Amino acid sequence: MTQGPLTTEAGAPVADNQNSETAGVGGPVLVQDQLLLEKLAHFNRERIPERVVHARGAGAYGTFTVTGDVTPYTRAHFLGEVGRETEVFLRFSTVAGNLGSADAVRDPRGFSLKFYTEEGNYDLVGNNTPVFFVKDAIKFPDFIHTQKRDPYTGSQEADNVWDFWSLSPESTHQVTWLFGDRGIPASYRHMDGFGSHTYQWNNEAGEVFWVKYHFKTDQGIKNLTQAEANRLAGEDPDSHQRDLRESIERGEYPTWTVGVQIMPAADAATYRFNPFDLTKVWPHADYPVIEFGKLELNRNPENVFAEVEQSIFSPAHFVPGIGPSPDKMLQGRLFAYGDAHRYRVGINADHLPVNRPHATEARTNSRDGFLYDGRHKGAKNYEPNSFGGPTQTGRPLWQPVPVTGVTGDLEAPVHAEDNDFVQAGNLYRLMTEEEKERLIANLAGFIAKVSRVDIAERAINNFRQADEDYGKRLEAAVQALRG
Ligand code: HEM
Repeated sequence: MTQGPLTTEAGAPVADNQNSETAGVGGPVLVQDQLLLEKLAHFNRERIPERVVHARGAGAYGTFTVTGDVTPYTRAHFLGEVGRETEVFLRFSTVAGNLGSADAVRDPRGFSLKFYTEEGNYDLVGNNTPVFFVKDAIKFPDFIHTQKRDPYTGSQEADNVWDFWSLSPESTHQVTWLFGDRGIPASYRHMDGFGSHTYQWNNEAGEVFWVKYHFKTDQGIKNLTQAEANRLAGEDPDSHQRDLRESIERGEYPTWTVGVQIMPAADAATYRFNPFDLTKVWPHADYPVIEFGKLELNRNPENVFAEVEQSIFSPAHFVPGIGPSPDKMLQGRLFAYGDAHRYRVGINADHLPVNRPHATEARTNSRDGFLYDGRHKGAKNYEPNSFGGPTQTGRPLWQPVPVTGVTGDLEAPVHAEDNDFVQAGNLYRLMTEEEKERLIANLAGFIAKVSRVDIAERAINNFRQADEDYGKRLEAAVQALRG
């Protein structure tokens, strides 16, 4: 802001910012006090709706650098050459809490990455977990309702959470992950990130590959125990946000090593798991993680509201060489985010400084709407036109994929080793004895709060199906707590 006197929104100098204008000493306030009215009215409108999920978050700018050649798999320009750098903005978040909630809680962490590429912005809107609770977008609003405040009590209710999870056995894998040690990261810097879904890469020759992204923290994984988190959430509710900002201020730039699992398209139909099922990982023995990049965060936003609260990320923001997979969750997300942005930030959200392309420009014929800034000046607003307007390329961002069958409310195809428990059991058996003990204690503490025995039993039964020992120990721990 430039130097000079305080002004009104219209730029007129302000004489007195301490006393409102009254009719005489001690008299009522006058409507002609433009400054008072303007300040009160603007103040009333400071909030925009918080995100319906992932409301609480922090962000930073940085750089993505290509370190490995992936041109045999994708023609994305920003991945086209080892050493190529792309500016990024990353917003971390928790999921269930409101905007003012504490950071140190047991909850997945969002990992939303915007690459400002020369071919447009590419958004990868992932989590710190490689899997998710449900596998069809139609279940997402119900799931989130159980995580949020109950309509009657106004609080999160163990009954609702465990009722839904126990009736959705596909959640067993992610719940095992969440109640394990990685369920409460020590900070946003000390956790991995995942694209989670399977995405499409396609190369210059038009060949299709299915890929999964991995971001391995170079700071090392650090977690909090439930007891540590309970204390920290009270002492410093902004712990993650502060840690990220201060580390960047100190010049300690957090970095992640970026890798990808790559499946040739022809493998998908016969792979042992449905490769588009978000509740499953692809074991690294099947598809190893190939390193191809480095992510560094090195610049804090100057204004949290403008750059973090108003930032928008959409899984539908692709660039040439990258596209969606048939994952039913992802397909729902392709709609949900743009719709949320239009409601939450408005129809011109894409044009705010944090959201607009930085390495190219948006050339559309869409115009006007609330807070349109006139950026197109007098250019024609239709296509085709004879005035040198932008033209279509004729080349889709992603390759078409074959489909078969008839329409219907159909479940995704089941593959040879698909079931809702196998990977949850594998994860449990990978844990050390101490890890298992903490997992059981965390789960039992929550399940013991459920008021209905049938819901608690159904929940425990899902874990028993993942692993007999897992279920047995959990049952005993819950019984001990219930007395
Ligand atoms: C069908 C399932 C899902 C739906 C309908 C959905 C919907 C939404 C919506 C409406 C928002 C708020 C967006 C905004 O106001 O800007 C959001 C935020 C977010 N979601 Fe999802 N979500 C789904 C699943 C997932 C999954 C599977 C992941 C991760 C793998 C995920 C990660 C995120 C993240 C990281 C954010 C925060 C974005 C930001 O930083 O602004 N969501 N989601």
